Amino acid sequence: MKFASHYILASASVALSASISDCPGYTASNIVESDGKLTADLSLAGTACNIYGTDLSDLKLLVEYQTNSRLHVKIYDAGLQVYQIQESVLPRPSNPGVLAPDSAIQFKLTEDPFSFSISRASSNEILFDTNGTKLVFESQYVYLRTRLPKDPNLYGLGEHSDSFRLSTDSYKRTFWNAESPFIPRDSNLYGSHPNYLEHRGESGSHGVALLNANGMDININKTDSGDQYLEYNILGGVLDFYFLAGSSPTDVSRLYAEVAGLPAMTSYWTFGFQQCKYGWPDVEFEAEVVANYSAANIPLEALWADIDYMEDRRIFTVDPEKYPLDKMRQLVDDLHQRGQKYVMMLDPGVHKSDTYATYSRGVAVDAFIKAVDGSLYRGEQWAGEVVWPDWFAPKTQDWWTDEILRFFDPKTGIDIDGAWNDMNEVSNFCADVNCEPSEEATKRNAEADASYKALRSRQDSAGDMKGLPDRDLFNPNYRIDNHQGDLSIRTLYTNNTNADGTVQYDTHNIHGLMMITATRNSLLARRPNSRPFVLTRSTFTGAGTKAAHWFGDNDSNWDDYRATISQMLSFAAVHAMPMVGSDVCGFNGKAQEQMCARWVLLGAFQPFYRNHADISAPNQELYLWELVTEAAQKAIDARYRLLDYIYTAMYRAASTGVPIVNPLFFVYPNDTKTFGIDLQWFYGDALLVSPVTDDDGTSVTFYLPDDIFYDFWTLQPIQGKSATVTVDDVAFTDIPVHIRGGTVLPLRSASGNTTELVRQNDFTLIVAPGIDGSASGSLYLDDGDSVDVGSKYSDISFKWDGKILKAEGTFGYETDVVVESVKILGGEEPVTKEGAWSLNEAFEVTVS
Ligand code: NOJ
Repeated sequence: MKFASHYILASASVALSASISDCPGYTASNIVESDGKLTADLSLAGTACNIYGTDLSDLKLLVEYQTNSRLHVKIYDAGLQVYQIQESVLPRPSNPGVLAPDSAIQFKLTEDPFSFSISRASSNEILFDTNGTKLVFESQYVYLRTRLPKDPNLYGLGEHSDSFRLSTDSYKRTFWNAESPFIPRDSNLYGSHPNYLEHRGESGSHGVALLNANGMDININKTDSGDQYLEYNILGGVLDFYFLAGSSPTDVSRLYAEVAGLPAMTSYWTFGFQQCKYGWPDVEFEAEVVANYSAANIPLEALWADIDYMEDRRIFTVDPEKYPLDKMRQLVDDLHQRGQKYVMMLDPGVHKSDTYATYSRGVAVDAFIKAVDGSLYRGEQWAGEVVWPDWFAPKTQDWWTDEILRFFDPKTGIDIDGAWNDMNEVSNFCADVNCEPSEEATKRNAEADASYKALRSRQDSAGDMKGLPDRDLFNPNYRIDNHQGDLSIRTLYTNNTNADGTVQYDTHNIHGLMMITATRNSLLARRPNSRPFVLTRSTFTGAGTKAAHWFGDNDSNWDDYRATISQMLSFAAVHAMPMVGSDVCGFNGKAQEQMCARWVLLGAFQPFYRNHADISAPNQELYLWELVTEAAQKAIDARYRLLDYIYTAMYRAASTGVPIVNPLFFVYPNDTKTFGIDLQWFYGDALLVSPVTDDDGTSVTFYLPDDIFYDFWTLQPIQGKSATVTVDDVAFTDIPVHIRGGTVLPLRSASGNTTELVRQNDFTLIVAPGIDGSASGSLYLDDGDSVDVGSKYSDISFKWDGKILKAEGTFGYETDVVVESVKILGGEEPVTKEGAWSLNEAFEVTVS
């Protein structure tokens, strides 16, 4: 091989004679404090330690009290060369600015050695504290450590498949988006969200969000003397922190969504049940799947097409034999006539061939990533030799939109309802930097290293925040714990330069976010009035503003069934990504009937609900087993009657940032027994879901906080006692679900085969009185799909005071659907009042 062997052989961070504690740290000077703002210069306080790179001698500190509950702290290089995430990729929150004394959290500076702490104003409690360790800010290594209280309750730092409450002992979270088959534990996965929520019970919750896209390890551990800490070890970029005051966990989610962006509101249909499979043989088979669902009486909302439909797995083509265009058009037409949807896959890898029009049109507008020598950067993907879009290139978006408009033209092409972006970490089948798709490319790479420095000089000018020059972009001395190995393995070479002059070393983790941004824009160009639906595998901070996410290639086993709960809670409650879920019944391996039945029930109470499996796995469409069919009918019936309830929760998430699903401690923040629970959750904020989680088990022991609950299926009350409850003999077609007392559930009185039909059914309001006898809830209604509904929406609040149920609010969405009954729970039998209350105006129902 022509690359120097150290590129592939390095297996541990370079051994060092010095340690981080030998580094000099920085001294703060020239401190300027004005209204709600502080700036300072930070100068290297001694001889550079150059531990994993070159120490930067001059830094700047910026502290902004942005709102009463959000504090921005940024440490960056004085020369403004170090990479900062482009605003076009991740717009920063607006900064209205407040006076420091008005802020719920306070910044305190220590000048020498430079360090800082963040405290809660009301209690002086320290939330974040770098005192005791020195900042290291080098060309290829940035280090900062905060002290934490003993046994902290930390959540987030996704994407991972570990417990929801993070381990605090020798726990490492690595951030480097990677192809991650079987979603390994203790590993980096497909997405990077370096933000966490810390919950301290009665003294509140707060959040810490770091906007940094570089590869990093975050270590959570204890010192030899037992002091707890969390530390950042980052390969570059700046320290761009947002401290979020909380103080409730829900507040932290809301405040985080101000930073990452509010999640995109998805269409009503996206909550329907979706079916996919990698390896369906042809379009006829797909049509049969639809027919089989119908025959089995299991509602199917959307059918998904994996790469099978493509000719030689090239995007924007159809296989003329197995998936001919006319038959595809017929299939989609049939689906649409029945009120069903069709979603198709679009990978980022574009096959490199002059006879392939998508490629040629991309080349014509310079849409692809370049290798360091200026030639197209090539790798391997499903289609063989491929190139990848450079989302920074000025014409890439237009080219992508044009391809999407052509191929998915409703008149001549396939009229999709959503797009699925896969492999966008990006995944490259090249197993190491020796892998070359052709002889010519081998030569190119041999020359690449030599030419790299010369080519990089075009971005060496100061002040553009596009990355420092002269870095080892393949093997930095600090080695993050990427489960794939070196940074460039199975992805793009990290020395590739983007069109704006930045390098993949710095932008690797935002490739997926940029792809879904482009796809979303293109879908909007296709159907300007429909909410675009994009499902993505790779994510980064802010991805919720663009797309839904599934948890990738899990395994058809009980461990991964359980892991979906913590994965969902991390994304929805901590990373502002509400529309998430796993491949129901598992992707890899053979799904076993009982497990699949349980998974179908569990998935029905998670936001995104799709069955999908690998090409090597047997088919697992739900109708293939009797038990699963029965479980599916029950699960989907409940889910569909609850569609408006969860759609309302989605609307709250999209308009305020509160989570669509809730960990138990979000609802009971003072109940310490809830802090570690990740096998139960609230679907919305009123339904407590407690699935059977033991392998092949039929009993479940779940926790009920000190509150009144009502069995969702029988409507019988059960008093929670801050203790666990065991239920035996839970059939494989059952899942324990409880309504939290104090809530009003708007339920469709009947389900339907599609969400379009569900929308035509009347409502039953389930009033579940709390311990004080009162209850409240809400219902959001609109046409389910428009991008801008204007004033045509209703946001109705329900309040029950023990005698009268009042429905008030905004009534802009006109509907014939009425509330046909009100059920008050609590007695031995619910008290039901029938009627026909219009949802176009306020109303009152007296029940005595
Ligand atoms: C990997 C994805 O994670 C999986 O869902 C898909 O089926 C395959 N790629 C094939 O496209």
